[in-house]
Formats: sequence, C-alpha cells, structure tokens
Amino acid sequence: MTASVTPSPRPAGRTGETAYDRHRLRQWLAGDARADGVSRRRLLSLLAATAAATALPAPGPARAAAAAPIVKPLPPEWFIQRGTNAETRWEALRGTGHHTPNELFFVRNHTATPVLEARDWRLRLWGSGLRGAPGEDGAVEFGYDDLRALPAVTRTAFVECAGNGRSHYATQQGETVTGTAWTLGAVGVARWRGVPLGHVLRRAGLSSRAVDVQPRGLDAEYVSGGENLGRVRRPLPLAKALDDVLLAYEMNGEPLPYDHGYPVRVLVPSWVGISSVKWVGDIEVSAQPLLSPWNTTFYRLFGPAHPAQGSAPLTRQTVKSAFELAGGATFAVGEGQVLHGRSWSGAGAVARVDVSTDGGASWRRARLHDRPRAGTWTRWSVAWTPERPGATQLLARATDTHGRRQPDVAVPNTQGYLFDAVVRHPVTVV
Ligand code: MTE
Repeated sequence: MTASVTPSPRPAGRTGETAYDRHRLRQWLAGDARADGVSRRRLLSLLAATAAATALPAPGPARAAAAAPIVKPLPPEWFIQRGTNAETRWEALRGTGHHTPNELFFVRNHTATPVLEARDWRLRLWGSGLRGAPGEDGAVEFGYDDLRALPAVTRTAFVECAGNGRSHYATQQGETVTGTAWTLGAVGVARWRGVPLGHVLRRAGLSSRAVDVQPRGLDAEYVSGGENLGRVRRPLPLAKALDDVLLAYEMNGEPLPYDHGYPVRVLVPSWVGISSVKWVGDIEVSAQPLLSPWNTTFYRLFGPAHPAQGSAPLTRQTVKSAFELAGGATFAVGEGQVLHGRSWSGAGAVARVDVSTDGGASWRRARLHDRPRAGTWTRWSVAWTPERPGATQLLARATDTHGRRQPDVAVPNTQGYLFDAVVRHPVTVV
C-alpha cells in the first residue's frame, strides 16, 4: 500500500500527550496533521507555546440548557443540578459500596442525552490509519450485537470531570475561574464491561501508519460562544488507545444508562472524563495527527503559572479526597463518630490518607477499607469524638503510589481544571 502522507512516527511506548502534542502541532504546520474546527490562529498560538510547554489541556464551557438534558431522575437529596449537568452529593455515597450506583452517578453533558436504540446503532471506523477494504471508502462497521459477540473484559474505573473541585479555586484560594462550579461530586466509579478498543481497531484493519484515534459522540453539536464546534470528539494517541481503553456497553452489570452513553461509550481509565466519549458513533483512525477543540481550546491549562499559550493536553487526573458528608454537617459534642471518605488518583493507587479534624493543626492516618488499586478510589475512615462545640474543618490528604501527595494550594488555571489541593470541609459541633 502506498502512503498518501508522510508516515508519522508512532508515540511508541508512550501514552502521554505532552511530547506528542508538540510533535502533532509541528506536523500540522508541515501540512501533515488535520485540525477540524480549530482556527489557524489558535493552532499557531499553541505551536508558539510548545517551546516552553511541559503540561496538559483544559475543558469546555457549559451550553445553554436543553429542555431535559438528563433523562434519569435527579432527586435533590442525591444531586445538585448544574445546567446540563448533575453533580453527585457526597453524603449520598455513604454506605453505597465501592462502586457508585448508576442512579447516583454524576452526569456531564455538553448538550443533552440522546435516547438511542441499540438495534439501530452502528459504530463506524474510518480513516487513513486503517488498511482499507470492506466498505468502498475503507470504513468498517460494527453493530451492537457484533460488539457484544467479541471477547469482553470487565474493569473497575473512575470517570471524573477535569473540572471536578473547580469551585474550590474560588472558595479556598480566591481565584476566579470559568466553567461549571463543581464541588467534589463530578466523579464516580463503576464496573465497566466492554471490548478493548485495541481489539476492535485491529479487527478493523489497523495500519502501521496509524497515530491518532478520535471517537466522536452522537449527541448534538456543541455551540460555545456562538461558534458551532461540531460533535464532541477528542483524539487519543494510538499508544493509549491500544493500552487500556474500552468500548463499554455495561455499567455495574446493567446496560449503560442513557445518560452514561447507551448503547456504547469509550472508557479511558485514569484520564480526564472528556476522553471517555459517550454515545460513540464513529472513530476516526488517522495516519495524520488530529486536533479538535477538546484538545486545543479546552482541556489545556492557561494562566500565569502555565506557558503563555497553554499547556499540553490534559491526560491523567490528579489526586483528590472527599468526605461522605454534606458541607456544614452537624455533630454532637462528646459523641463518638466514624468519618468516612474516599481518595483517588489518576497516577496510581491511593495507599495512604491522613485526616485532620481540627482544621489542619493535627493529623492522623485513616484506616483503609479497600486494597489500593490504580484507576479507582480507596475508601477510608477515622474515628472522631468532637470535644469542643463550634465550627471546625475536616481535611483529608491522600498520597498515591507514585508519591503524589495533595498540596495545600492548587496551581490555578483560568478554566479551573485539575484542582488537587486538600479541601477544607466545614462542619459544626453543637
Ligand atoms: N461524550 C459526549 N458524547 N458528550 C459529552 O458531553 N462529556 C464528557 C464525557 N463524554 C461528554 C462525553 C465529559 S466532560 C465527562 S466528565 C464525561 O463524559 C462524563 O461522563 P458521565 O456523564 O457518564 O458521568
């Protein structure tokens, strides 16, 4: 087969985006990468930034709410509604087990949940990174039953919005950031079942020239600041796509709920939630690097602490902890309590959590309730008997197996991504 473009070196053995991003942008300049829906000006400014770039990307603003952006019931004791999105209340997770029940799982929709039928659904793989053949244009299609007939795997993994914890940039650090004002409830853990994306790519005729894989959702086109950015899509380096990514059709033993991507979604363990494209309808497999608004304008870090034109695209999530408690919860003085919470990281397992019940003056180690595992959270608890009436703050600080420890202050960025600082949870003792 003759190559129609200059073969791009594969990001061999690397699932990160930082170095590859620079490479991808240079290829765009040389005419060897495609960038649909991203202006030339924007790309040039990103390219200018790559000299200094060492980091990650940022996400998108919320769109005007559709009539019913979310299908499932959103009882106020479980969810805080935020535009087209719904945040899980941490107090509702108390006693729910390791996996977040589907009814309680947060929802992040750029527009609205499309209600699709599995029997009508097709997944189309296409592009210059396939060897060609079956369809006239070289595209290969899979139906829902085709996918379910392939060897399946089950994997426990969190999905977390890159902006989870964003509101704490304002409440704890006095920083003004844009985007949905999540507290800590834009995260959930589920047991996902599906087919490894790598398996489907190989069956579709993956070529040795492929470098990027771009899944696209079947939800409505996303309009931001009056500009139609098209349907939600974000490229993944092939190395990550072949590593641990799933085309998932089950969530906690049930078919995916409508809001979480029925009939099939992409599941990219440990990476920012935007990578896990819901309602996937097609996947471009490309021999050219790809760019979309979701790895250029959004999901990079901008601001004084970052390269002038933004960081490299965001990949792994940071370390976080949360108490299974309402903000402002009340406790009786002298009464023994057990405080529960969960901690997680995109870089490794969480094997150590320290808790303070006096606003950070003293700390003790929490008891872990899960065997620490990468890609999911570790549940923990500490006993506490409040001794004095009055207001106090509960703090939890996690350390992951890669030595990443939650800092006191998160490095701010204009779109409020990747908040990782220890959150000060206010409570009152009466
Ligand atoms: N996929 C599509 N097609 N449309 C979307 O709006 N939102 C993304 C991602 N996949 C989105 C999407 C974002 S930003 C997040 S955080 C996760 O889905 C949220 O997944 P959930 O709604 O199942 O919790």
